[in-house]
Amino acid sequence: MLPVGDLVLLDPLTEESLLQTLQERFRRSNIYTYIGNVVISVNPYRSLPIYTPETVQEYRNCNFFAVKPHIYAIADDAYRSLRDRDRDQCILITGESGAGKTEASKLVMSYVAAVCSKGEEVDKVKEQLLQSNPVLEAFGNAKTIRNDNSSRFGKYMDVEFDFKGEPLGGVISNYLLEKSRIVRHVKGERNFHIFYQLLAGGSAQLLQQLKLRQDCRHYGYLNRESSGLPGMDDAANFRAMQVIGFSPAEVTALLEVTAVVLKLGNVQLSSSYQASGMEASSIAEPQELQEICELIGLDPAVLERALCSRTVKARNEMVLTTLSVPQPGKQRKVMGVLDIYGFEIFQDNGFEQFIINYCNEKLQQIFILMTLKEEQEEYVREGIQWTPVEFFDNSIICNLIENSKCGILAMLDEECLRPGVVNEDTFLTKLNQLFATHKHYESKETQNARRVMDATLPSQCFRIHHYAGKVTYNVTGFIEKNNDLLFRDLSQAMWASRHELLRSLFPEGDPQKVSLKLPPTAGFQFKASVATLMKNLYSKNPNYIRCIKPNETKTGMLFTPELVLAQIRYLGLMENVRVRRAGYAFRQLYDSFLQRYKMLSPRTWPHWTGSHREGTKVLLEDLAFPPEELAFGHTKIFIRSPRTLFDLERRRQERVAELATLIQKTFRGWRCRTQYQLMRKSQIIISAWFRGHMQKNRYKQMKRSALIIQAYARGWKSRRLLRELKSQCHRHAAATTIAAYWRGYQVRRAYRRYFRSGASTRLANFIYQRLFLVGLARNLPPLSVMDRTWPPAPYKFLADANQELRSIFYRWKCKKYREQLTPQRRALLQTKLHASELFKDKKALYSKSLQQPFQGEYLGLTQNPKYQKLHAVAKDKLVMADTVRKVNKANGKMVPRLLLLTTEHLVLADPKAAQPKMVLSLGDISSISVTRFSDGFLALHLKETSTGGAKGDFLLISDHLIELVTRLHKTLMDTTAQKGAMTITVVESAKAGTNIPVCKKKGSHKMEILVQ
Ligand SMILES: Nc1ncnc2c1ncn2[C@@H]1O[C@H](COP(=O)(O)OP(=O)(O)OP(=O)(O)O)[C@@H](O)[C@H]1O
Ligand SMILES: [Mg+2]
Repeated sequence: MLPVGDLVLLDPLTEESLLQTLQERFRRSNIYTYIGNVVISVNPYRSLPIYTPETVQEYRNCNFFAVKPHIYAIADDAYRSLRDRDRDQCILITGESGAGKTEASKLVMSYVAAVCSKGEEVDKVKEQLLQSNPVLEAFGNAKTIRNDNSSRFGKYMDVEFDFKGEPLGGVISNYLLEKSRIVRHVKGERNFHIFYQLLAGGSAQLLQQLKLRQDCRHYGYLNRESSGLPGMDDAANFRAMQVIGFSPAEVTALLEVTAVVLKLGNVQLSSSYQASGMEASSIAEPQELQEICELIGLDPAVLERALCSRTVKARNEMVLTTLSVPQPGKQRKVMGVLDIYGFEIFQDNGFEQFIINYCNEKLQQIFILMTLKEEQEEYVREGIQWTPVEFFDNSIICNLIENSKCGILAMLDEECLRPGVVNEDTFLTKLNQLFATHKHYESKETQNARRVMDATLPSQCFRIHHYAGKVTYNVTGFIEKNNDLLFRDLSQAMWASRHELLRSLFPEGDPQKVSLKLPPTAGFQFKASVATLMKNLYSKNPNYIRCIKPNETKTGMLFTPELVLAQIRYLGLMENVRVRRAGYAFRQLYDSFLQRYKMLSPRTWPHWTGSHREGTKVLLEDLAFPPEELAFGHTKIFIRSPRTLFDLERRRQERVAELATLIQKTFRGWRCRTQYQLMRKSQIIISAWFRGHMQKNRYKQMKRSALIIQAYARGWKSRRLLRELKSQCHRHAAATTIAAYWRGYQVRRAYRRYFRSGASTRLANFIYQRLFLVGLARNLPPLSVMDRTWPPAPYKFLADANQELRSIFYRWKCKKYREQLTPQRRALLQTKLHASELFKDKKALYSKSLQQPFQGEYLGLTQNPKYQKLHAVAKDKLVMADTVRKVNKANGKMVPRLLLLTTEHLVLADPKAAQPKMVLSLGDISSISVTRFSDGFLALHLKETSTGGAKGDFLLISDHLIELVTRLHKTLMDTTAQKGAMTITVVESAKAGTNIPVCKKKGSHKMEILVQ
C-alpha cells in the first residue's frame, strides 16, 4: 500500500515512521508529500515524467486533497486563492543547497504560466517571466561542491495579475550575488556559468570581437582549467539563451563587460622598484590590458595607474529588474516566488556563507513564526482549547546575527567603521567577549573558557549553531568583504571609459558626484533588504515548499536516511505535523467568512442582520458539519480539516453556479421579455402599417375597378342612348323621305298634266345645253391673246350664245393678259396704241414701225459722259432722246441734231458740243404735220406767240418718226390735259389737194414743201 500522502494522517507519528514514509514514497518516485498544505519535495536527481502538459491539466482547478501530492497542486491552490479570494500569495521554497529549490520555483512558474489564460499580451508577459530564468542562471549560478547549478544569489519574483488572473508583469529582485566567486573559487567548483557558456558557445566572430580565446585554460579566473560539466552543455545553453527585452547593442555591451571581467583576471601585477628604491607594482600583461582598454574605450595608462595603485574589490548591490512597466490604476494581485540560495556548509565557510545561512535562518524563522508559533498563539488568543506543542524557535539565532546593537553584523559594521587598526582578530575578540555565554555561539576562546577540547575549531574561526547545523566561519576576509569598498580612482577610471554600460555601473566614479560619505556596508545592506523581503512576505499568504536533499553525491534516486533525518529535524517537520494535527487547517474572520459563504443558507442569504459570529454559527448549523470540525474563536471561525473547507468551497461553487444561473435566468427572462415587448411593439406598428397599406391598395384597386365599371356602364348607357337617338333620327329621316316622296308623288300627280306639254323640248334643250357647255369646257382654245379661234356652235340655236361666250372668253383672256403686264410694258403698249390711233391707215410708215419696239432713249445719256449736261437738263423728266436731222429752211440742207423730249420741253442740241441749241416749251407747239408716205419728215408748227415761233416752224427728219410724234402728242395730252391742243396732220400728195405741207419761215412767211 502506498504510504500516506499527507503526513498529518501518519499513525503512529514518530520520526522513524515519518522518515520511512518519505523513503517509501521516494522509492516509488512519489517525491512530493504534504503536511497539510505544506509540500515536502525530495530531490530525485533525475527527471521524472510528472511534469507533462497532461499533468498540468490534471491539477488544474483540482481538489487539493483529491489528487496525488504534487508541486502543481500547491501552485494551483495559491493561484486560485489569488484569483478567487483576492489574497496576495507568496511561495516560499526552502531547503539546503542542491535540495531542488530553483527547480521547484521554475515548476511553479511554468504551471502558473500554463494555467492562466492566453492572449498576445499575456503570452508576452509569460515568455518574459519564464525566459528571464536562463539569463539569471547564467550570470548568477555556478557549480559548487554541493550543487552543479547552485544559485549564488537570492531571487524573489513578484508576478502581478489582474482581476481575471492574467499576468500583467513581474518584478524580479536579486539579493546579494556571491561576487567573490568571480576572482576565486575552490577546486572542483566553477565560476559563474556565463564565462564558460560565452567561451564554449560564442561564435568565432563574436569571440574575436570580444578579443577572447575559446580555451578556458587561458583565463586565470577560470582556474586555468577546462571545466566542462557532465550533463550541462554550456555551448547549447549559450545559444539557447534568449536575452529578453534587450536590444542587440545592449547584449553586445553586456558581453563586452563580461569579457573585460574575464580578461582582468589575466592582468597580473608584478613587483618592481621605483627609482627612489620604493617598492611598486606594474602590469605584467600589457597586451591584455591594451585589449581591455580597446573594448571599453579607455586609455591604457589610466587603467594601469588605477590598477597598480589599488587593489580590485567586487561591489555589492541589489539589482531590480522590471520586466514590464506596471500600469497604474489597475487593481493588482501579487504572487511572489522566493528562491534563495540554500543553507550550505563547506569545509571553509566565509562571509558569503555567513550571509547565505543568515538568510536561510530568517526563512526558517518565517516558517516557525507563521506555522508554529503564530498559529498556536492565535488559538490561545481566540480562546480555542489548545495543548501547546513544543518547538525550537530560531529567533535567538537570528537575533545573534542581526541584532542592531550587539548582533554579529552590527559588530562587523562597527569594526569596519572604527578608526585605528582594524582587522579580523579584533572583530573576533569582540564577538568572543559579547557572546561568551551564548548557546549558539562558539569559538576557540569560548570553548577554552568552557574547557571544551575541540580540534575542529581553528582559532581564526567562530561557529554558529544554526537551525540546520553548526557552521564554522573563518573570519578572514569578513571586514574586507563587508566594507566592499571600491577605491575611488578605480571607479573613476571605469567611469572615464567610453562604454555606456560600464559607466552606468560606476556612477560614483563621476568626479562631480564625489561623496565623502561612506557607502553602507554589505552586511548592513543585506540585512536591510532581507528585512524588506520579510516584511513583504509577512504581508502575503504563505505557501511552503520544503525541499529535502536525499544524498550528498547528487545521485539519482539514492536516499540516505541519516541525511534526510537531519533535515527533517532541523526543518521542524515533526512539530509541523503535530501542530497541524491538533490545529485547524483554516481560519477566517467572521465577517469575511460570512460574506463568502452566506449564500449557502437561506437564513443568511441574502441579508443577515445579526452579528457576524451569530451569522456564521447559523450558517454552519444549516450546513450540518460535525461539531469537532469547527471551532468558534472570538473573532474567527476555525475549520479543522481541509476536507471540510473543500466541501464548503464545493458547495459554495455549486450555489454560486445556481445563483449565477438564477441571475442569468432572471436577466435572460428580462431580456427576452423586453425584447419580446419591443418586437411586439414593432410588430404592431409594422402590421398597422402593413394593414393600412394593404387597405389603401385595396381601396385604390376598388376605386380603379369602380371607375372601369362606371366607364363601361356609362359607355353602355351612352351607346344605348346614341343608338336610340340614331334610330329616332333614322326613323325621322325615313318618315321625312317617305313624306317627301309622298308629297312629291302627290304634287307630280297633281301637276302631271302641266308638265307633259313642252317638257320634252325643255328637257332636250337642257340636255343639249349641258352637253354643249361640258364640251366647251373640255375644248377651250389656248389662252394666247393672239389666238382668236373658238369652236363653232354644235347646234344652231346655240350660235348666239356661242358668239357671246366667245367674246366673253376673249375679253377675259385680254384682261388676264393685261393684268400680268409690267408697268413699263403697259406704258409702251399704251404708246403703241396711241401711235395706232394717230397713224393707222394714215401713214405708210406706220406698218413698218409696228415691228420696232419704242425704246425712247436712243442716245445713252446716262452712260455717255459727253451728254452729262443734257442729262442734267432733262433730269428725270425725259421722255425720249434721239438723233434727228434738221432741215435748214433756207437751203434745204440737213444738219444733225440731238433731240430731247421731256414732259415740259423739246430740246434740240448740237451733237458735237452736246449743248442745247434750242429749247421749246411744249405748249408752244401748235401742231405737227407728217406726210402720208413712209418718210421721216416732220414739221413742228409753233404758235406765233411763242419765242421760237418767231423763227418759224421746224422741219425735222427722224428715223423713229412714229414714236417721236406719238410720244410728243401723248406728252402734250398728258401734261396739258387739253384735248385737241395739238393737232397732227397727215399731209396728202401735193396734187391731191390743197393740203400741201406748209412750213412757216421767219417772219411768218409760208413755205410750201413738196413731198413726193
Ligand atoms: N524535481 C526535480 N526533478 C529532477 N531533478 C531535480 C528536481 N529538483 C532538483 N533536481 C536536480 O537537482 C539539482 C539541484 O537543484 P537546484 O538547483 O534546484 O537546487 P537548489 O536548491 O536551488 O540549490 P542551491 O541552493 O544551491 O541553488 C538540479 O540541477 C537537478 O539536477
Ligand atoms: Mg538554486
